[in-house]
Amino acid sequence: MSTQGYAFQGDSRHQVKKSPTWTEVDAYTLSRLQPADRRPNHSTLLSALRNSHEKGLPDISTAPAVAKMYALQCRANSTSHALEIGTLGGYTSLYLASVNPGMRVMTIEVNPHHHAVSLENIRNGGPEIASRIDVRLGAALDVLPLLEQEIIGEGKSEKFGFVYIDADKANNWTYVDKVIPLCKKGAVIYVDNVVRGGKLVDPDAIDESTLGAREVVERVGRDPRLDAVVMQFVGEKGYDGMIMAVVL
Ligand code: DHB
Ligand code: MG
Repeated sequence: MSTQGYAFQGDSRHQVKKSPTWTEVDAYTLSRLQPADRRPNHSTLLSALRNSHEKGLPDISTAPAVAKMYALQCRANSTSHALEIGTLGGYTSLYLASVNPGMRVMTIEVNPHHHAVSLENIRNGGPEIASRIDVRLGAALDVLPLLEQEIIGEGKSEKFGFVYIDADKANNWTYVDKVIPLCKKGAVIYVDNVVRGGKLVDPDAIDESTLGAREVVERVGRDPRLDAVVMQFVGEKGYDGMIMAVVL
C-alpha cells in the first residue's frame, strides 16, 4: 500500500505524507476499544477486505475506525434503517449491520463488478446478516426515486435514520438533496471525502471531486433542512474528512 495520502495521487502539492503514528494510533485504539472477542463478524469483515482486494476493487473502503464510528452513530440513535450510496465491496454495510442487531441497511452500487463482489462478501456473513442488507445495482440517481416510491409512496419500509454518501463526488449535493425527504427528523447524513488533504480550501484545486466537495459544503450550509459540521480526520487512510449533517 502507498505511504502517501491515498486520495491525492498525481497531484504532488496534495500528497499529504501519512504519518506512521496515525496508523499506530488506529491499531492501538481499535485493539483496546474493539478487541477481537468484541468484534462482531470480525472474520467476515476481514474476508470482505481480502476478497475485495483479490477481485481488483480499489483500496478505498471506509477505514475500520470510521466504519465503527458510523456503526456507533446508528446505535446511539437506535437507527432501524440505514442507507449507503456507494457499496464498493460491502465492508461498511457489513460493519453497520454487524454492530446493530436488527437494523436494516439499504446500499446502492453502480458498478456491476463491485455489486457482485459485495454480494459474495455479504453472503459470506451468513443468512441473518445477508437478510438485513439490501444491495441495489444501479446509479443512485435512478435508484433513489424507486426508494422514494417504496418508502413514501407505498410505505413498504421505514424512512432512514442514517445515510452515508461515499460515491461519485460530483453528485454529492444532489444525493444529499434527494435523500433528505427519505430521512426521519434527527437522521444523520455523512458525506465522505470532503477535505481531500486540504484541497477543499485550495482555490487552484478545481478537479471535479474537489468541486463536488466544495459544492456540498456550501449548499448544506445554506440549507434550512440541515445543521452540519465538517470533521477533519487522519488515520491509516491518510488525511481527509466528512460532513456530518443532521436533518432538522
Ligand atoms: C476515493 C474515493 C473514496 O470514497 C475514498 O474514500 C477515497 C478515495 C477515490 O476515488 O480516489
Ligand atoms: Mg470514501
